[in-house]
Formats: sequence, C-alpha cells, structure tokens
Amino acid sequence: MPTRDTSAEAGTPDVQAGEKSIATIATLRVGVKLYVYHENSKEHRLAEILSIQTRKGTPHYYVHYEEFNKRLDEWVPPTRLDLAKEVEWPRPDRPAKKPEKVAKASTPRETPTSTTARVPKRPRRGDSLGPGTPTLVQKGSNKKARTSALPEDDLVVQSETVGDVGTPEDEEVDEESVEIDPKAAAARATPAKQSGASGTPETFSKEHEIEKLRTSGSMTQSAHEISRVRNLSKLQIGKYEVEPWYFSPYPVEYTEEEMVFICEFCLSYFGEEKRFQRHRTKCTLLHPPGNEIYRDSAVSFFEIDGRRQRTWCRNLCLLSKCFLDHKTLYYDVDPFLFYIMTTRDEYGCHMIGYFSKEKESAEGYNVACILTLPQYQRHGYGKLLIAFSYELSKREGKLGSPEKPLSDLGLLGYRAYWQDTIVDLLLSNKGLETTIDELASLSAMTTQDVIHTLQNLNMLRYFKGQHVICLTDAILSQKQKQVEKQKIKGKRTLDPELIQWKPPVFTAANRTWNW
Ligand code: ACO
Ligand code: ZN
Repeated sequence: MPTRDTSAEAGTPDVQAGEKSIATIATLRVGVKLYVYHENSKEHRLAEILSIQTRKGTPHYYVHYEEFNKRLDEWVPPTRLDLAKEVEWPRPDRPAKKPEKVAKASTPRETPTSTTARVPKRPRRGDSLGPGTPTLVQKGSNKKARTSALPEDDLVVQSETVGDVGTPEDEEVDEESVEIDPKAAAARATPAKQSGASGTPETFSKEHEIEKLRTSGSMTQSAHEISRVRNLSKLQIGKYEVEPWYFSPYPVEYTEEEMVFICEFCLSYFGEEKRFQRHRTKCTLLHPPGNEIYRDSAVSFFEIDGRRQRTWCRNLCLLSKCFLDHKTLYYDVDPFLFYIMTTRDEYGCHMIGYFSKEKESAEGYNVACILTLPQYQRHGYGKLLIAFSYELSKREGKLGSPEKPLSDLGLLGYRAYWQDTIVDLLLSNKGLETTIDELASLSAMTTQDVIHTLQNLNMLRYFKGQHVICLTDAILSQKQKQVEKQKIKGKRTLDPELIQWKPPVFTAANRTWNW
C-alpha cells in the first residue's frame, strides 16, 4: 500500500491556535479536532487528526476519537469528516505535530541503545529474526500504590446478607469508571489458512539486534509521535487473521505489508508469504521453547526464561505490543520469566496468551505483562492466566499483585478475577469469621487488593463499632446469575494439583537459573 505523508503540505489556515472555525480539506492538518463519522456507533464523534497520508491521490486521516481507547483509532477517508461543523485548531501548548512517517518508524527511543553510533545497512526484507524485540515495561511508575486506612485485623465476615447501602468511598482515582463495550473491545480475528510445519529461531547477538534497529531510522523519530499511529495492517497468527490495536516496533519493511505472517510457534515474522511458507517447512518448534509445567485436558502452561530464549521472548514482546498500549519498550528480556498458555491439537501447542513475571520484583509484582491474544479473548482465558499467576505466588509463599498501571482491559479482567475469588472464599467459609489477612493469604492477593475489591463491591461496612464484610444481596444474585451462565457455557478452571513447579532460584548476578 504505497502511501505518501502529506501533512506537511497541507495549507495552514489563517487562524490562531486553539480557535474554532470552518476548515477545508486543504487546510486540515495534524492536531486538528473535528467531527468524524464513527461506524460502530453510527454517529459523528469528536476526533483528533494524528496523521495524514495520501493514497492514490486521496488524503486519508488517522484519527483518535476522544474518550475512546486508542485501539479504536483508524484511518478514514475525507467522506467521513464533517466539515460543515467548525473544527478546533491545535492549541499553542500542543502545536501541530510534525508529520508522522509511520512507514519509516521502527523503534521507540526507550530502547536503551546509544543514539550516536551509525550503522549503514538496513535489515533485509523478510529477515525477521534479527531485530530483537524489547521487553515491555510499564510507562508510568507505580507511585499511586493503593492505600487504605482501614484496619485489617478487626474485620469479620457477617454471614447474613444486608442491603446495598453505606458504601465506603473508593479511594482509587486512576482505576475507576472503566466500563467497556465488549463489542468495542472485541478483536477482529478471523480464521485464515492453516500453516504447516515449524522450526527453531536463529539467534543474533544483542549488539547486532540493536544495530539493526538503529538502521531502520527509528532514532530520528520522536517516540511519542511514532507510537500514536498503528503501524501494521494485519497479522496472520496460525489459523487466525488479527488486526493490531497499537503501534509495535516491527522493522520498517513490515509496515508496508498488507499482512505480516507470524510463525505461531517460534514467533518469527515475515512480510512475504513465500518466505513464511519456506520457513514453515523448516521450523521444527511445536510448542513454546520451555518446560511444560501444567497440563490439563484443555490447556498447557510453559515456563520460559527470557535469558535462555531471548529471541523467542523478544518476538513475543513485539507481538504483544500490538495489543498493549500502556507499556513502553525495553530491550532486556533477561530479568523475566514468561508463562505461556497454549491449547493442544495434532499440529502442536498453540499460544492463547501469556504473562511475564520479573525474576525478582522489588514491588512484589507477580505479573509484569498479561495478554490473551485477541482471537481468544472473552472466553475466560484471562482469568485462567491470572489464576495461574496467583497459584505461583502461593507456591512462593508470597502475596502478589499485577504491575501498575493496569490497562483498561487489565483492570476489568483483574477486577472480575478478584471478585470471583473473594466471593467464592467467603461463600465457602460462610458463617465463619475471617479477616482481610486470611483472605489475602488464601488467595495470594495483597491485602490492599482484597480491601479495594471489597470496597468496590460495597461489601465493607462499619457495624456496631467494627468493620464487617457483608455478602450483599446484590453480590449473591450476581453470583447466582454467573453460576447459571457457567452451567450453560461451562467454566474454565485450573487444577492447582497439576502444577509441576517449584520457585526457581536465581543468582544475584544474572538473575538466571542457578544451575
Ligand atoms: N469488556 C468488558 N469486560 C471485559 C472485557 C471487555 N472487553 N474483557 C474482559 N472483561 C472482563 C469481564 O468481566 C470478563 O469476565 P466475563 O467474560 O465473565 O464477564 C473478565 O474481564 C475476564 O474475561 P476473560 O475472558 O477471562 O479475559 P480475557 O481472556 O479476555 O483477557 C485481558 C483479559 C488479558 C486483560 C485481555 O483483555 C487482554 O489481553 N487485553 C489486551 C492486553 C492488556 O490490556 N493486558 C493487561 C495489561 S495490564 C498488565 O499487563 C499488568
Ligand atoms: Zn517458526
């Protein structure tokens, strides 16, 4: 899809920044906010132009709808713009961004590479194994750790149900009001052709990979600008075609392809189908390259050390960045373990999702990144991944919590898991006293997460001079509905007995296996 960035050529209107006035196609530029027809909701919505490109002589606009998640950003033709209404010109404190050359973007600056060295050669098209992928790390620091002034020890469970009143105020600020339309968040994943055999990735040195990334021009781009525009059109992963949600720093060549082919076993990527097919005849990998530490009739879990499987783990991060917006990129996969959940069939173990975990987390996080591939989302796999992460924490004798900040979907998934877990624990313990600490130690959730879950569910009350946990009518009827739904749809569960895992021990020097 040949494109030409024309945003620099767009005429600048004779208006002050921040002002509103009528625009024309000729005066539109990056940073302008205007009404754009949004097909899902079938109405015009306020959106900001993030990039402009000309395709076959017609300008196209990459727009971000206000108050919508970035994954709904899209390219629209001029016919979708409402130019009868006034547009808002970029404000002085947010000057029109420089043109965003999406097709030239490859790697955000966060990668710890030096910006001084120059490497003349560009990576070959179709050579997917070289530009190793950065690790995903959180963009914001976790300064907003959850706090609560509630006493934790004098809490008891009140077994009779009470009405839905007297909610304690929720202190969370950044994690509130997340309600997502399942349709809006749903992945657009469709079955594609099934691929054949498989193979093992070659390995490149870190220096080599960094050099290759540099040659793709990334260092001359502003990371902020690059990452605002989705750069890949479509991915083929196994038998599915999936549309990426966000920018991911695949090498520049791939951004020009209509489809990027991912080998679902070694996670190598290819811009050309022929190369991909050739790779498939050579690739011998049939499951993630690590130890299978869990197997039941439905799924398996594999544990992978980032230090031992750098290329594979970097390729995984690169792929998952397509669906994780709030993580920035870092090069070093060594300090992480990756837990990959797969389904099995006669062709091999197909990845459903994964979570990564720091070998040592100073903050006590038990998950760094978590992802269910879009084609498998909303089938209960996210809860299974989360459940697995807490089972590992139980084996470690630790309480854990996911790395913050959580994404919108991450928060929804965790809240759903936390609610299920706590309500189930209370129901199984009905009539008996329990404390926040007890709930935490039984679930491996931090006491803060327990308290916040109870608060969110309106289950913490002050009663006759002490705090009590109440199973409210609302919660019980919600639980009843869920049980009925699960009777029809079935429920995915984990059997902790089947986990074959002991907490690994790492040397301080390299945070790798102590063998
Ligand atoms: N809209 C509303 N609720 C949702 C949605 C949605 N789109 N997705 C999940 N939920 C809630 C629901 O309550 C759901 O339970 P229900 O289906 O019984 O109602 C619950 O979350 C769990 O759903 P699962 O099917 O178990 O979860 P899924 O397999 O879809 O995975 C996950 C959840 C991992 C967060 C997935 O959405 C994902 O990969 N998102 C993209 C990557 C991401 O944002 N990861 C989290 C980042 S935070 C971090 O890494 C620490
Ligand atoms: Zn392969």
